[in-house]
Amino acid sequence: MGFVQAYAAPMVRIEWSGSYHPDGRYPAAIVNVTNRCNLACEHCFIYRDGNPNQVPHSVRDELSDDEILDTLTAVRDRNGVVSMLWMGGEPLLRRNLLRRGVSLFHNNTVTTNGTAPLFDLGRHTLYVVSLDGPEDLNDAIRGAGTFRRVIRTLERIPSGMSSPVQVQCTVTRRNEHRLAEVVDAVRATRANWMTFSFYVPRAHDTGPDAWASNEERARAVEEVRRLKALHPAFIRNSTAMLDLMLPPTCRQVSDSCMARAHVLPLYLEGDHFRTPFCCYGNDVDCDRCGGWVVFHLAARYGPFAR
Ligand SMILES: C[S@@+](CC[C@H](N)C(=O)[O-])C[C@H]1O[C@@H](n2cnc3c(N)ncnc32)[C@H](O)[C@@H]1O
Ligand code: SF4
Ligand code: SF4
Repeated sequence: MGFVQAYAAPMVRIEWSGSYHPDGRYPAAIVNVTNRCNLACEHCFIYRDGNPNQVPHSVRDELSDDEILDTLTAVRDRNGVVSMLWMGGEPLLRRNLLRRGVSLFHNNTVTTNGTAPLFDLGRHTLYVVSLDGPEDLNDAIRGAGTFRRVIRTLERIPSGMSSPVQVQCTVTRRNEHRLAEVVDAVRATRANWMTFSFYVPRAHDTGPDAWASNEERARAVEEVRRLKALHPAFIRNSTAMLDLMLPPTCRQVSDSCMARAHVLPLYLEGDHFRTPFCCYGNDVDCDRCGGWVVFHLAARYGPFAR
């Protein structure tokens, strides 16, 4: 399918594939504004084989700020996108684009690896900073020295910055026993809150981060529930969402995934975006999905909402 021309101009540089449709209604979208990244995290779903993720030789080979913003303006108007999640690769490698882009949407989230200083993007933009364990485990997954760099970023959040900062820890089989240490480390910084998301495995994933089953993952969910009870305001996962992550309900939630129906994923591929199977790319095991967005939406809007 070719790119879709919105009305006359500007050009909407999207190759629609998977279950996504140019006329669909998507209240939220995720956009990878670059495929470049200064880290190479072992668990990262973006750089899995089969995803649109090719790293360009130079920044000049990527879509320009104007080309990206024209496309995003068009999906906002045509597809009803209200909330935009800015991602990559590392989105803070394109600061000027972010500065302009957040003014297009009602709500914005910028998910960053936190290795560069944060800057004020206004109060309608939430920073989500990734930290995946205490120092030894985080650095095993995200690379040597990254824990200290992220903590430094969190300690140096500019005073008066209006964008709130939330830390996200992706829970995996590797770090599930050490989550309390992450909470303690983040509470000592200037971050406002934290959340726990859970690893999304590739199909047939038997790697160090994947649980063999949701029954095995349940002890990690129970640990987050325990931490939530200790720090109810600081840990932002809702209790309802965590309940849905336990078997057998978790399979009912992923079988009717609300993220796939309502969140438009735009992955960068050369001179255009492509929509993959879902936010987590093309190679995923839905049956063991632990993505925050899936369970958050189900708890808030789905048939399980209280
Ligand atoms: C893919 S990164 C892109 C943004 C930025 N570079 C960062 O690291 O925050 C977005 C988030 O996805 C998380 N993530 C990476 N691989 C994952 C996986 N297989 N399952 C669930 N979350 C994952 C990362 O830890 C990070 O919090
Ligand atoms: S920093 Fe983010 S995009 Fe880069 S490799 Fe790590 S998880 Fe993936
Ligand atoms: S992997 Fe998760 S987010 Fe993707 S379609 Fe499956 S359940 Fe939904």
